[in-house]
Parts: sequence; C-alpha cells; structure tokens
Amino acid sequence: MDTADVYRTFGVREARGPYRELAAAIADDPGLIALIGALPEAKRQPNLVLAAVRFEGGPATEDDGFRPWAKENWAAVERTVLARRTQTNEAGRCASLLPVLAQIEGPLALIEAGASAGLCLQPDRYRYVYDAREPFGPGPVTLACATEGDPPIPDAVPEIAWRAGIDLAPVDVTDPAERRWLECLVWPGEDARRDRLRAALAVAAADPPRLVRGDVAETLPGLVEEAAGHGTVVVCHSALLPYLTPGARDRFVDLVTGLGVRWISNEGTPRLPHFGIPAGDRLAFVTALDGVPKALTDPHGSWLRWL
Ligand SMILES: C[S@@+](CC[C@H](N)C(=O)[O-])C[C@H]1O[C@@H](n2cnc3c(N)ncnc32)[C@H](O)[C@@H]1O
Repeated sequence: MDTADVYRTFGVREARGPYRELAAAIADDPGLIALIGALPEAKRQPNLVLAAVRFEGGPATEDDGFRPWAKENWAAVERTVLARRTQTNEAGRCASLLPVLAQIEGPLALIEAGASAGLCLQPDRYRYVYDAREPFGPGPVTLACATEGDPPIPDAVPEIAWRAGIDLAPVDVTDPAERRWLECLVWPGEDARRDRLRAALAVAAADPPRLVRGDVAETLPGLVEEAAGHGTVVVCHSALLPYLTPGARDRFVDLVTGLGVRWISNEGTPRLPHFGIPAGDRLAFVTALDGVPKALTDPHGSWLRWL
C-alpha cells in the first residue's frame, strides 16, 4: 500500500470525527504525501504524524488549516515524528478491572505489565459510577461504566499496598511534554477522553507510580519476587498483547501462570484465542482472572457484560 492509500484507508476504516475528512484530504495532497513518504516506513503511520503536528502547535482539522501548517512547519513535525512513538494509556480500563480485582483478597501487590504511564496501576485512586449504583472511590477522576449480567461490583476501591509497572518505554508523568504527547494522541472530538486522560495524569503526577523500563518477559519474575511479602501479588495487563508476536504471547502466558500469582488479563477477544470467545460485531475486550473469562468489556471501560 502506498502512503496515500495508507491515509485513505485510515480515513475510511479507522478514523472517527475530524480525522476522517483530514486523512482523505492528506491522501489527495501530493506535496504532503511526498513529505510523509520520505519518512522511514514505520514513521509514516497516520496516528503518529497527525499527533506530531498537534504536538508542535499545529491545528487538528482540515478546516483549521492542518495541511498548509504541516507543510510550512515540516522540519519541526519531522523531528517529533522521528523522536516519538504512538503510545496510549486509558484510565477508563480500571472500571473493567475493578470487579475482577475485588475477587482477590487484599491487600494487593499490583504489577502491571505494559503500564505506559501507569494510569491503570492506580485503580484505587479513581471514583467509580456503575449504572445507578452509589458512587465510591476518591475523585476527581470519575469512571462511569454501564453493566449487564449482574457483576459483583464492590462498594469500595481495593487496598493496594504496593504497586509497580513494567514498560519498554515508560511515560514519565512528571514531564509536561510527555503528558502533552499522550494528550495529542487522543483524536480531536474525543474531548471527554482527553479530559479524563489529563485528570488521571495529574493524579499520577501527584504520586508517580514506580515504572521499570524493560521487556515484560525479562523483568516480570524479578518484580514478582520484590512484590511478594507486600500483599497478594496480582499481575495484570491490558492492551499489551497486540505488541507481542503470537509466540511471545504464548511464552508470556506460560511465564505468568508459572509465577504463582493472581493474573488479570484485559485484552481484545482475538488476543487470547484459547478463551474461545468470538470477536463479535462490536470490538470488545475479555477481562479474565487466572485465565478464566469473567467479563466482556469496552476497550475503554465504558461498559461491561459479566459472563
Ligand atoms: C496500548 S499500551 C496499554 C497501556 C495500559 N496497559 C493501558 O491499558 O492503558 C501498551 C503498552 O505496552 C508496552 N509494551 C509493549 N510491548 C512490551 C514489552 N515486550 N515489554 C514491556 N512493555 C511493552 C508499550 O510500550 C505500551 O506502553
């Protein structure tokens, strides 16, 4: 697929909101396509280039002049594209994890594999609203989740006595530029998501989680050893497995299940095929405890169907 086709396809198949029109316009702009096409192949991806323009202070939409701005300021855009990578961290996923975490006797020693900025390492620092139930947990970040199937919603956040994350490229929540980069990766129009991210990053920055730089396969056993003695050791991961090859995924599952820990996975339905849950029409995650699926969940935590 050539660069113009990559942007055209992104606009039709993936993008929502203003990025749909913008991606189509970029695909039809030979000047901009030539600049993007001159980047290393792995750096031509729409999410990276569009975020880099915004990070450098450019507009986010076709109507606001994205394309002329990007061409005029290409040296700065290119610098950011080459220096950075796409990265996400979705605090909302804690609403999917919470009913499963509540099944485990605490206090917990929580390890997140693929933690990004560590926003899913602090499920005890958010306020939850499940349907019309009484909200619980500290603010200011509120995670709302609509449920089906009578999930065992707790009435309080879990006690987390110890926590640490592992990531190949941890995000430093105390660095304003790193925080802004994460925000630029949220698509325009997704204001609620951006506001939640900003607020959750501020919560994390007030007491930054410990994040260990490294590969999960190499780093996890040592961290589990450290965690033991602080509480029930729970290894959790969410949206990590797409980054691993199928072989590395299998090895990771073998590793976790051999460590004698509780294991929470929150991954897209195709990622752990042995769960036998079909992909279905709407994109869903499976939230599982110790390899047993417990819920189908929204990838951003806004709904949950207990199984
Ligand atoms: C999509 S993000 C998900 C972040 C967070 N778990 C969440 O749900 O919001 C996946 C993270 O996994 C990290 N990652 C990918 N492969 C990894 C590996 N082999 N070892 C450690 N971290 C990895 C990436 O750097 C990225 O931060």
